[in-house]
Amino acid sequence: MGIQITPSMLSADFANLEAEAARISGADWLHMDVMDNHFVPNLTLGAPVIEALAKVAAQPIDAHLMIADPDRWAPAYVEAGAGSITFHVEAAAAPVRLAREIRAKGARASMALKPATPIEPYEDMLPELDMVLIMTVEPGFGGQKFLDLCLPKIRRARQMIDKHGGDIWLQVDGGVSLETIERCAEAGADVFVAGSAVFGADDPEDMVRQLRDVGGR
Ligand code: DX5
Ligand code: ZN
Repeated sequence: MGIQITPSMLSADFANLEAEAARISGADWLHMDVMDNHFVPNLTLGAPVIEALAKVAAQPIDAHLMIADPDRWAPAYVEAGAGSITFHVEAAAAPVRLAREIRAKGARASMALKPATPIEPYEDMLPELDMVLIMTVEPGFGGQKFLDLCLPKIRRARQMIDKHGGDIWLQVDGGVSLETIERCAEAGADVFVAGSAVFGADDPEDMVRQLRDVGGR
């Protein structure tokens, strides 16, 4: 499979999510950033909003849970209709059990790492996952500057995934734009979240195309 572009709806117009999703028909997934004011210092949306958008959007939902206690709350996001659930390993009490529960409920299980969280301790649990998300900013806000210091970790994650041989996607999130996507792709990422770059563009649909073009080179 080629690369995938997953625009972050955090930078879309929250009063018109259905129309905003339709403006990016070429996107592979809709990335929904769930923040709880505990795990990150910002508050966005929860399962009811995801459920409403999942019913009307053509694209599947990629839910990024920046919340405390994902062990308790993540299953509700599968029930709300998200096709992929990303929890933060820093917040999960039992990441293996949680990944298995997400899969058993029928969604893709994904684990996120903040910029200072190493990937090495989690190598043995890769077979439990469908995707790994390497954050390239500190989670909490859109529009932040891409952290180049995360590139070596993307490279190491790619090597680990290739070694295990499974079909695990490698996602990057934070500061991804036409300027930075090439570096991420070169390091081995294949799923790209972009919020401000897509919805800050005059033509979001065209930006999705351009990102796919540059990221897929
Ligand atoms: C940040 C979120 C991101 C954010 C990305 O905590 O997880 O998904 O919306 O926004 P940009 O692409 O503007 O950095
Ligand atoms: Zn995100």
